Amino acid sequence: MKIFVDTPEKIAAAVAQEYVALLAEKPDAVLGFATGSTPLGLYAELARLCAEKRISFRDVSTFNLDEYLGLDGTHDQSYRYFMNKNLFEKIDIDIARTRVPSGVNTDPETAARYDKDIESAGGIELQLLGLGNNGHIGFNEPGTPFGSVTHIVELTDSTRQANKRFFNSIDEVPTHSVTMGIKTVMNARRIILIALGKGKADIVKKFIQGDVTPEVPASVLQLHPFAEVYLDFEAASLL
Ligand code: F6R
Repeated sequence: MKIFVDTPEKIAAAVAQEYVALLAEKPDAVLGFATGSTPLGLYAELARLCAEKRISFRDVSTFNLDEYLGLDGTHDQSYRYFMNKNLFEKIDIDIARTRVPSGVNTDPETAARYDKDIESAGGIELQLLGLGNNGHIGFNEPGTPFGSVTHIVELTDSTRQANKRFFNSIDEVPTHSVTMGIKTVMNARRIILIALGKGKADIVKKFIQGDVTPEVPASVLQLHPFAEVYLDFEAASLL
């Protein structure tokens, strides 16, 4: 893993430039996107660069990591809604080529078909990840087997607590989600994980310097040949 440490603003700018370089070389790349607070700076920067015609997503296809079970794309806390508002509506992408796992009418079989769709599209060139406080990537909670493909998961209490800030109350936070599996993520040819803030410092130390174990899902990235980790000074403070 390559580690970069900088301010959140410089990280957003630097990672955005990685997308500029990638799409200059491969305009029809397949990109894997994430939701959450972490990528918001990056998405704003990509939207700015696109408005200035310094990057184009015209021929890009995308696959998002995950979605809450039970929320359809019009729900303002669904990840489809998040992506439309924070990125897709602000760039020149063809919305028909953007995929987010469906939160409705999803069973284990339809979930696993997402992997086949990614494969048919040619595989993910660059997967973006955030990091859960418990080390999750996507919604792969501690204990998820490294061989897992896209599947339905029960969210841990800690993840529901962490995400309740977006809902009116904890009762409204869905109990399940559908997420790419660890194997789905690891199949991406390149991975960029961003972690920001003091709250992530403990788990950052664990996944980078600790053992590779399903108990710390992000630790699997130690085994990926092209994984890059961008940390702000607070998230990197215990390394
Ligand atoms: C989001 C996702 C999650 C988040 C993680 C960090 O699609 O899969 O793994 O990346 O929970 O969330 P934030 O960025 O809100 O701290």
